Amino acid sequence: METIIAPSLLSADFGNLARDVEMVNRSDAGWFHLDIMDGVFVPNISYGFPVVKAMARQARKPLDAHLMIVEPDRYLAPFKEAGVEWLSVHYEACPHLHRTVQHIHDLGMKAGVALNPHTGITLLEDILCDLDYVVVMSVNPGFGGQSFIEHSLYKLSRLKEMCLRKGAKALIEIDGGVNAENAGSLAKAGADILVAGSAVFKADSPERMITEILSAAQSAGKAVR
Ligand code: DX5
Ligand code: ZN
Repeated sequence: METIIAPSLLSADFGNLARDVEMVNRSDAGWFHLDIMDGVFVPNISYGFPVVKAMARQARKPLDAHLMIVEPDRYLAPFKEAGVEWLSVHYEACPHLHRTVQHIHDLGMKAGVALNPHTGITLLEDILCDLDYVVVMSVNPGFGGQSFIEHSLYKLSRLKEMCLRKGAKALIEIDGGVNAENAGSLAKAGADILVAGSAVFKADSPERMITEILSAAQSAGKAVR
């Protein structure tokens, strides 16, 4: 499949949010990535439903919400109501992960599970086939602008192998420290969705940077096919 670029609005200018959402609408990006942080699961608070709803009203591409919150089950339905189509919860925050995934599906959304850098992919063995996507965190969640943890590349290729071995259809999303320099190797290692926050929004031209990241991923992808 074609690689999807999902700009993370965490690095957008919240004083000019409408402008930045419009830029993503116009760009080669496939999705919007929304980082939801509660100050408990991660040491930072981002934004909540009023902002998600405002973005949803203007966005013309699917919204992918990444819940970095404890007890995500309490908020699954409100995210659906807010307009989210792809919803990921953290493995580390869900004692009854299978039930949570079922609930996301029952609400009519695609379900993903995010793994912190230290969480092994083998823990997904028994749920992988029920997932629409897996989010491999390539930074410790909580902040934009951190450096890519190199080990994530190896984790990505092992996860890709595991999906092929099990016949799982789950897409693989990589989140944290993604840029035009590493996009090629990430796509090659098996990433289907590249989340990029600071690389996009700190660029002189965010729109052009999205195209650059996408082209880097696509040319690397083609080389291995
Ligand atoms: C980290 C978030 C990421 C982050 C990506 O907690 O999940 O989505 O905002 O930002 P960059 O691309 O700046 O690492
Ligand atoms: Zn994220």
